[in-house]
Amino acid sequence: MNESMKILYDEHTVIINAIDVARNAASLIGKDDAEYEKTIRDLIYFFRTYADEFHHHKEEVILFPEMSKQNELLADGVLKEMLENHEDFREMVRSIEQRLNEKQFHEAQKLLDRYTNALLDHIAAENEELFPMTDSLMSETELQSIYFRFKDCDRELGEQKKEDLVELADALRKSFI
Ligand SMILES: [Fe+2]
Ligand SMILES: [Fe+2]
Repeated sequence: MNESMKILYDEHTVIINAIDVARNAASLIGKDDAEYEKTIRDLIYFFRTYADEFHHHKEEVILFPEMSKQNELLADGVLKEMLENHEDFREMVRSIEQRLNEKQFHEAQKLLDRYTNALLDHIAAENEELFPMTDSLMSETELQSIYFRFKDCDRELGEQKKEDLVELADALRKSFI
């Protein structure tokens, strides 16, 4: 694995930790609704900032355009599908928040489960099919340039903010052990 893709793989691992929390949170419904609502609001914040602003942004603005340049077939195929997934994810998070605002917790959880399952499938496709392609598609120099652009991206959005989000996902996970 090259070091630029390692950044994305590592972000996937953090996102998967938050998905674990989302699945376990269901046990709070009817037992401690206030805690359930707080947990899901924290998760919505995490998915919007860490998963979307930090992670999907890197793929959409840096990685996918670079891969498209190397292979047009990818642009119309798997990359287009991945971009559509990201758009669907944003819509799904909006729907989860809406149900939460209406205090429809069972409905919120149903949508959250649908979202996390789709996100896991998406991550598996990227980890197993898409990211490994970069080794043959790109030169060392191109991969290194992507690595620095990823780093710049984190600096612009806030490295401290990113660390805080990792800690948030960690703290939420520990609260369910
Ligand atoms: Fe993605
Ligand atoms: Fe991803």
